[in-house]
Amino acid sequence: MSTVTTAIDIKKIRSQFPILDQEVNGKPLIYFDNAASSQTAKSVVDALVNFYEKDHANIHRGIHTLAERSTKAFEETRERVHQFINSAEADEIIFTKGTTESINLVAQAWGSKFLKSGDEILISHLEHHSNIVPWQLAAERTGAIIKVIPINEKGEILIEEYKKLLSTKTKLVAVNYISNSLGTINPVKEIIAEAIKVNATTLIDAAQAAPHIKIDVQELNCDFLALSSHKMYGPTGVGVLYGRREVLEATPPYQGGGEMIKDVSFSGTTFNDIPYKFEAGTPNIGGVIAFKSAMDFIDEIGHEAIQAYEHELLEYATDRLNQIPGFTPIGTAENKASVISFLIDNVHPYDLGQLLDVKGIAVRTGHHCTQPLMDFFEIDGTVRASFAVYNTKEEIDVFCESLQKIVERFS
Ligand code: ALA
Repeated sequence: MSTVTTAIDIKKIRSQFPILDQEVNGKPLIYFDNAASSQTAKSVVDALVNFYEKDHANIHRGIHTLAERSTKAFEETRERVHQFINSAEADEIIFTKGTTESINLVAQAWGSKFLKSGDEILISHLEHHSNIVPWQLAAERTGAIIKVIPINEKGEILIEEYKKLLSTKTKLVAVNYISNSLGTINPVKEIIAEAIKVNATTLIDAAQAAPHIKIDVQELNCDFLALSSHKMYGPTGVGVLYGRREVLEATPPYQGGGEMIKDVSFSGTTFNDIPYKFEAGTPNIGGVIAFKSAMDFIDEIGHEAIQAYEHELLEYATDRLNQIPGFTPIGTAENKASVISFLIDNVHPYDLGQLLDVKGIAVRTGHHCTQPLMDFFEIDGTVRASFAVYNTKEEIDVFCESLQKIVERFS
């Protein structure tokens, strides 16, 4: 049996994920669909249960004890996110329902004020639909134009081509930190630095990066950054939009309702200060509160240890998979997170996904919400295995042996 060399306590980590300890189709579950959604840590589930059993009340409204308790816990998560991504202030953290909503907030609210006809929005060929379609809608509303930063055959952004696209017309650069389909880690710091030279606003889709890489928004120097709790061992329905104070203050509200106002009359409304200006309505209070435990879980292991361990899994799996006849990786960037997209000769990705499921192995198949990227590779989709900190080399062995058997059946 292969041994893990990076120093993490895998037994302790897996004990936080009882869901992994089950059989699927009569086989031990191997969960390699983490880029879609990682499993939820037990401490997170406990925090959710604790909230609903002991503290549930609406926030920022009541003066009774439960309302004060839930408000305090909710605001503690804001402080925790502020610390987790090193924003300058906690007020720069807005809670949303996920990365998609965070990007839509910027496209609609910021876009409606700051984009006008002829302005250019730069996105890359690697983007998820959630960082394409909101900009298409904004472009339709405002007359702005979308330009696409090209990539090479490895699935890497062509930085020199990007620089050529930048001009005084560029109003926004919106790119992902890590590609969900290929795992490419983009040089976002350089991308942001170049955008700043032409005074463009920057947005980083960090949905895939947040569970794997230490994010420091001040060091990145971005204007906006979006992430999702459910890819970070936290609950679904919770996301974050980080925005630099000046940019958020200049941005009009996204949705109207309770919480986002200071004063309402039929002759007009004054809006609340940030972050509340962007948090209309009752949020996912329990989810936000439990998200704090997800960040605690990640920090307890440490991003450095997580990255080193997952990189080891990536290299191990890549070496083993390369030995399987008919295996073609899609996306071979030099700088990659623990995502492997691939094809196997003569087996359709959907069939492969189903055959793996029969063996208890969960992978994602299809276009991964990146159809333009699939078009670039002239394919309909791939099979994608994405690893989290609770995965092991032993699971990769079983996965590769299962693939080998499937290949033998189809050859
Ligand atoms: N964006 C998620 C994925 O890549 C859903 O699967």
